[in-house]
Amino acid sequence: MPVIAVIGAQWGDEGKGKVIDLLAEKAGVVVRFSGGDNAGHTVINPFGEFALHLLPSGIFSSQTICIIGNGVVINPAALIDEIDLLNQRGVDTSNLAISDRANLIMPYHILLDGLEEKWRGGKALGTTGKGIGPAFADKVARYGIRAGDLLDKEALLERLRQVLDYKNAILTKVYGVEALSLDEIYQQYCQYGERLAPYIRETTVIVEEALNREELVLLEGAQGTFLDPDFGTYPYTTSSSPLAGGGCLGAGISPTRINRILAVFKAYCTRVGEGPLPTELKDETGDFIREQAHEYGTTTGRPRRCGWFDAVAARFSTRINGFTGATITRLDILDTLPRLKICVGYQLDGKTIDYFPSSIAALDKCQPIYEELPGWQVPTTDIREYEQLPPQARQYIDRLEKLISCPINLISVGPERGQTIFKTPIL
Ligand code: GDP
Ligand code: IMO
Ligand code: MG
Repeated sequence: MPVIAVIGAQWGDEGKGKVIDLLAEKAGVVVRFSGGDNAGHTVINPFGEFALHLLPSGIFSSQTICIIGNGVVINPAALIDEIDLLNQRGVDTSNLAISDRANLIMPYHILLDGLEEKWRGGKALGTTGKGIGPAFADKVARYGIRAGDLLDKEALLERLRQVLDYKNAILTKVYGVEALSLDEIYQQYCQYGERLAPYIRETTVIVEEALNREELVLLEGAQGTFLDPDFGTYPYTTSSSPLAGGGCLGAGISPTRINRILAVFKAYCTRVGEGPLPTELKDETGDFIREQAHEYGTTTGRPRRCGWFDAVAARFSTRINGFTGATITRLDILDTLPRLKICVGYQLDGKTIDYFPSSIAALDKCQPIYEELPGWQVPTTDIREYEQLPPQARQYIDRLEKLISCPINLISVGPERGQTIFKTPIL
């Protein structure tokens, strides 16, 4: 059985949680490979409705081992809350494994996230405030504390003492705020360690064993392609790679083992936080989509900015991820609109371009060039066969398929697991 990476193809919140939950029933292993509790993956299934931040969205499938990979930064308090919440709601989490190599979010990361945003003033990035950027910065600066460190209390104390000395110097001397207490953080993280110890282990071997048993392995991306620090709208990005390539590093799996890369696109675009969104609709259509779709952040509750489907961005996303197939989610949100637009090029400094510029200054100047298609104006939420979609909806999907240049495997017409049309096989 193969490895399928499920990747956010736009600015995040494309519906990755729904897709993973749907596919996980057949999977031996699901690995979350990037981000942290900045992610919010909504799953609606027979257990109820859940917003998952750290737990892989395969957690509801009891025969599936769910791994929080080395590429994730873990806030232990948030993870413990999430485990408790699921257990209270009747979901068994004994199938969870946490990579001993995953870096931890520490109290100073959360504090610094807020202080850095304040420092940026009018140029704030609009982060989720979860300490993600500072935690990934520490990982590469080699100041990180990892899940495995929780298993050795003496070593943890030594490591924390060294790192906290440095962090306290920054907190007090640069930002003029109070130093954090070594003892308090140490005691707190020892408690987290005791609670999480049963789950923390070397995890790459779990994936290897599943592949040897020929089981399906899913890599669950967080965020979306245009929040990637290299290929996204830098510096308005997150701090770990949501791309398919990030899946290899963040799960500890070779690129040669990945068989399919499944994009998740919304039928339109949304973005939460600051930064360019070339097709943003600052008008009543944008407001209509936001209210119709309840486009408010799963993690922060902030309103999401909404716009038409951007095929220039989508093509770029396909290129750098190497999508072998795509899911289009939230098609039903467009059900009542009389006319739809797809961005097929940009107008930049009087020239027409068909590529996604790397600079935010250029992106800010890009004016979308739209193609218009008729809407279908009938409900699609109960449709389960592609052929039963109204002809205008099929026309819209066919056009997207051509523009993004990869086959559309799945179409989602509602948030629930069953509200899915299997158009073509993923494998
Ligand atoms: P993720 O971060 O990629 O997992 O996506 P989020 O969970 O943050 O946001 C996706 C939202 O769309 C959630 O509220 C889902 O329940 C919802 N959703 C997913 N697919 C569909 C769909 O096809 N139609 C509708 N109406 N909602 C959907
Ligand atoms: P999922 O997995 C949408 C955005 C934030 C902000 C930027 C940087 O649910 O798709 P950070 O806290 O990561 O430093 O914030 O990235 N962002 C997301 N937007 N979906 C997400 O995750 C996001 N995770 C981070 O809003 O603009
Ligand atoms: Mg989300």
